[in-house]
Amino acid sequence: MAYNKVINATQRTFERTMTYDMYTDPKVLEKEMDLIFSKSWQLVGHVSQVEKAGAFFTADVMGEPIIVIRGTDEVLRAFYNVCPHRATKLEKNEAGKKKILQCMYHGWTFKTDGSLNRAPNFRGEDAACVQDACLRPVRMEVLESLIFVNLDDNATPLAESYGDFFDQLSKFEFLSELKRTHRKTRIIKANWKAFIDNYLECDHCHIAHPSFIDTLDMKDYQITMCENYSIQGTVVKPDKQYGEVDLNEAEMQGGTFFWLWPNLMLTIYPGPGNMASIEMIPIDHETTLAVYTYYFREDSLEKLSQEEKDLMTFAEEVRAEDIELVELEQIGFRSRAFNKGRYASSEQAIVQFHEMVLEALDE
Ligand code: FES
Ligand SMILES: [Fe+2]
Repeated sequence: MAYNKVINATQRTFERTMTYDMYTDPKVLEKEMDLIFSKSWQLVGHVSQVEKAGAFFTADVMGEPIIVIRGTDEVLRAFYNVCPHRATKLEKNEAGKKKILQCMYHGWTFKTDGSLNRAPNFRGEDAACVQDACLRPVRMEVLESLIFVNLDDNATPLAESYGDFFDQLSKFEFLSELKRTHRKTRIIKANWKAFIDNYLECDHCHIAHPSFIDTLDMKDYQITMCENYSIQGTVVKPDKQYGEVDLNEAEMQGGTFFWLWPNLMLTIYPGPGNMASIEMIPIDHETTLAVYTYYFREDSLEKLSQEEKDLMTFAEEVRAEDIELVELEQIGFRSRAFNKGRYASSEQAIVQFHEMVLEALDE
């Protein structure tokens, strides 16, 4: 991708957006699946989910069943969650702890390193034909406690894929203390890109998010485009700071909102150490599964402090406001009234995103 470090917004000369069929045509989504999603890093989990030997979780990465498991040798690995005998999905549970994985169909068993343990229906001379039948590994990398998977075996390493993003993230020192606290999903009746567009500008914040602009100092709101990601945010208004909570400096600095190509957003709100990830996963060209995961110092909702609960409520309120907007936008994308929109000069992060989509699709 052509984005190096910070992009100068004035270099952008786009005035009209990409055509609306990009949001309504099922063939576009087919191409995106092929050329974008099956080649990009996808967040699947957090190391707090797989701390102990044998701990695993399963995930669906763009239709591919995946299992991430910490081996009895303590090494974290990811595999396609598919039996090498005859394709059956191997582990059905979402999470758990096992020393041996067993296929329900003919009872093949696998060690936590993916090697075949036993194939009970292959005996005698059959045994030779299954010697090398192990689980197929999938590219996995962990940075800042976040576990990413890439379906492309030849993908650029994660750390090199997003410029200096992980350096930026590591400045939030509390992140290493966070656990995966809660995950929730929601179906949005809009194309996946509509929500990314919505996230990449804050002009609508003044109109749509009263609580957001009440808390954050919008005079200092900035959006910076970087290599395959962008960062936006501002500081908290002085009178809205969390005075009574014992917070370190990083936690006080304000709202920071990252977008990572293509469909991941990471948000850090002012207040007690926190992060949320939002993944926009296309179900079809006009339906998207939004996956929201919250990370706090506690591993369950029940243990959260009032400040942490308030923060979640705040984030969810803002999100619901956005969902309503993108669902209304999708109705207009389908209309014959217009076939393109316009970019304001404050919407350059959307231009960056759209250019990357068009480049990936070779449009
Ligand atoms: S399909 Fe898994 S053991 Fe046969
Ligand atoms: Fe918004």
